[in-house]
Amino acid sequence: MDNRPIGFLDSGVGGLTVVRELMRQLPHEEIIYIGDSARAPYGPRPAKQIREYTWQLVNFLLTKDVKMIVIACNTATAVVWEEIKRTLSIPVLGVILPGSSAAIKSTQSKKIGVIGTPMTIASNIYEQKIKSLAPDMQVKSLACPKFVPIVESNETRSSLAKKVVYESLAPFAGKIDTLVLGCTHYPLLRPIIQNVMGPQVKLIDSGAETVRDISVLLNYFEINRSREISDKQDHFYTTASVTGFREIAEQWLGRAVTVEHVNLEKEVKHD
Ligand code: DGL
Repeated sequence: MDNRPIGFLDSGVGGLTVVRELMRQLPHEEIIYIGDSARAPYGPRPAKQIREYTWQLVNFLLTKDVKMIVIACNTATAVVWEEIKRTLSIPVLGVILPGSSAAIKSTQSKKIGVIGTPMTIASNIYEQKIKSLAPDMQVKSLACPKFVPIVESNETRSSLAKKVVYESLAPFAGKIDTLVLGCTHYPLLRPIIQNVMGPQVKLIDSGAETVRDISVLLNYFEINRSREISDKQDHFYTTASVTGFREIAEQWLGRAVTVEHVNLEKEVKHD
């Protein structure tokens, strides 16, 4: 038993897609979330900078005495998950392995599409993971750099969102039966993505798949939060506007949330 919170980090609001699934599957676990919306998107940034920013987020979460860290960002997972996992003594989960396994399980045609940020796609990490698990899979990857800014500005229902998604996903038409949403921001565009791809294409939400692994690890290390404690206080932190973050979080999570602003450069020393 360990009643401390689980820490989640993302470049912005994308990790909320993992949090929503956690609230559904493991509702008694307490959450500390940090989103770096002031510096999002991470995807087009160089690896060195993504590493530096991600460590700042990790160090912030460590000041909150979390029992586990979930890197709820594919881009940060691709760049620095292995290093963070090796360095910390608490469990650290990324979102890429769970999404890869789920895609293999889902596909009938063995033709899988992957969409992600420029860094995630350039790293080729999904293709490597998928093929290391199942070498006969065909993987077609595509960077969608316009998606994250649409999500961060809460324009997911706009006509611009529809146009951008339609144009971006055109190369997949008729070529795949499974599409990995390899960026935790993308499930916020899910209805449009599904509409463009058609009902025959199964969408894999890499973040949501991760919650199953969180549950396995909590059980394995026996660090679940006691069900006897009825009250819990989730905390959400953003490096940008509290109002903007709260609006998206409350829409997405369907509940009121406490959001605080944090200035990472001032408050947290990184390695
Ligand atoms: N949610 C992050 C991911 O999963 C996003 C990206 C970004 O800031 O570019 O990759």
